[in-house]
Amino acid sequence: MANASRTFSDVRNVILSAHKNTGAQDKVGFYETWAEDYEQDVALLDYRAPLLAAECVSSFFTGDREKAAVLDVACGTGLVSGHLKQMGFRHFVGVDGSLRMLELAKKTGLYQQLTQCLLGQDEISAETYDVVIIVGALSVGQVPLTVVRELCDLTKPGGYVCMTTRGNADNREYKAELEQMIKALEEEQRWSRVTVVEVEEWERAVSEKDSGYIPGTIYLYQKSV
Ligand SMILES: C[S@@+](CC[C@H](N)C(=O)[O-])C[C@H]1O[C@@H](n2cnc3c(N)ncnc32)[C@H](O)[C@@H]1O
Repeated sequence: MANASRTFSDVRNVILSAHKNTGAQDKVGFYETWAEDYEQDVALLDYRAPLLAAECVSSFFTGDREKAAVLDVACGTGLVSGHLKQMGFRHFVGVDGSLRMLELAKKTGLYQQLTQCLLGQDEISAETYDVVIIVGALSVGQVPLTVVRELCDLTKPGGYVCMTTRGNADNREYKAELEQMIKALEEEQRWSRVTVVEVEEWERAVSEKDSGYIPGTIYLYQKSV
């Protein structure tokens, strides 16, 4: 059961401890231990990415949302699909590296299918989706950038890919490389930009290099027909 007496300082220490984990397997191991407290801790962080990304998809999606198939990549406990459901989407498939996070996602009853997969190493089943969304996982030490091309491959022609990343000091290099990767796919005419939203107050800063809130970015792309 989650520990209700946790403070921002506890959360800060937990997240800073994860910075020691350098490999993808280590990072997923960290989420195994954090899963139980994850939702209440990210609330203390004022982590708004799942809501903001879902709102972004919802405001541009033009298809039939009741029929649309959504792939929630690095779904965690299910926050993103929870918001999309409130916005009228109904069909969710989730993948994540952490079994414990997936167990919590299962309890939400949101997902038709949940699969454990280490992104960047395991193949995601080659189905096609109307919306592919990845929130809070494209950042240094987490999901490798090679996955961005896979996200595009998994999307139906005309479907949408929504990605987020953080803009704080530690993640700046990763963000620049992510943007190069996104641009390369644009130049190959695999997808086109729908919107890119810069958010000043993404979540509360935990590192000494940052203060107040750190910024974040939402990228919404449409797969070429
Ligand atoms: C910050 S949480 C985000 C969860 C959810 N999308 C949200 O916004 O609440 C990051 C998630 O990414 C998963 N993750 C990180 N690196 C991964 C990898 N290489 N392969 C699969 N999952 C990964 C973690 O297990 C965790 O559930």
